[in-house]
Amino acid sequence: MLETIKKIIKQAGKIAIAGYHASSKVIHHKGATDIVTQTDLKIEDFIRSQILQYYPDHDLLMEETDNELKKSNHLWIIDPLDGTTNFAHKFPFFAISIAYEENQIRQLAAVYIPFFQELFWAEKDMGAYLNGRKIQVSETAEISQSLIATGFPYDRWQKGDYYLQEFAAFMKRAQGIRRAGAAAIDLCYTACGRLDGFFERKLKPWDTAAGSLIVREAGGKVTNYSGDLQHYTEDTIIASNGIIHQNMLDILSQVNQGEKN
Ligand code: IPD
Ligand code: CA
Ligand code: CA
Repeated sequence: MLETIKKIIKQAGKIAIAGYHASSKVIHHKGATDIVTQTDLKIEDFIRSQILQYYPDHDLLMEETDNELKKSNHLWIIDPLDGTTNFAHKFPFFAISIAYEENQIRQLAAVYIPFFQELFWAEKDMGAYLNGRKIQVSETAEISQSLIATGFPYDRWQKGDYYLQEFAAFMKRAQGIRRAGAAAIDLCYTACGRLDGFFERKLKPWDTAAGSLIVREAGGKVTNYSGDLQHYTEDTIIASNGIIHQNMLDILSQVNQGEKN
């Protein structure tokens, strides 16, 4: 099954690269800052048809289309293009994300970054890999030595000041903070030690389902803002190398003291 996912996600990557060079059109806005391109839909259709060809009875949870659930014990959670805004601006930081779970336990995850030809994957209890090489989270122990990533939710035009408080708290404490625009990649970069931690609000299941398994299998920690094990249906996420996790939780809780989500 893992080999099948790798094959499908790499082929999907070719569709992404073709759309990238052909300046794939934005076809509609889901919100003021939330766009969909032709390529999002093309990739989603491709992945759906491939998975159903191999596994016709499985269920699919996909960003761009509602698929009728068959209530099987097999669920695929798919983001056809994570980082669509980047993609539409020809900023090459975008990915395809596929997670698979059986009886509500995530078994497999793959995130492919086509522009850089980097394929991250993980299998439950078997570790995490980047292009065949085993990966591990960083050993950075101090926030002041850490490179931290985040993202801004799609209601940032309304709530930007609020999100900026969290951003500012890390900007003032970390070695660096990045907002590169693709949560699945932020998670994979945390898994392989390029980043030491990542936090974000209001992500959707397809943004985090694959990346969070990859972080955990690489030895990292993934919780919500309360410090409980994060599930992809939740509203907040902190992923880290584990060592700086409590520190990240404390910083966010200080910022949010007295605030309701
Ligand atoms: C978005 C990206 C971005 C995050 C957004 C997500 P999309 O996914 O992951 O980094 O900040 O909240 O929705 O819309 O490009 O698939
Ligand atoms: Ca996404
Ligand atoms: Ca997407």
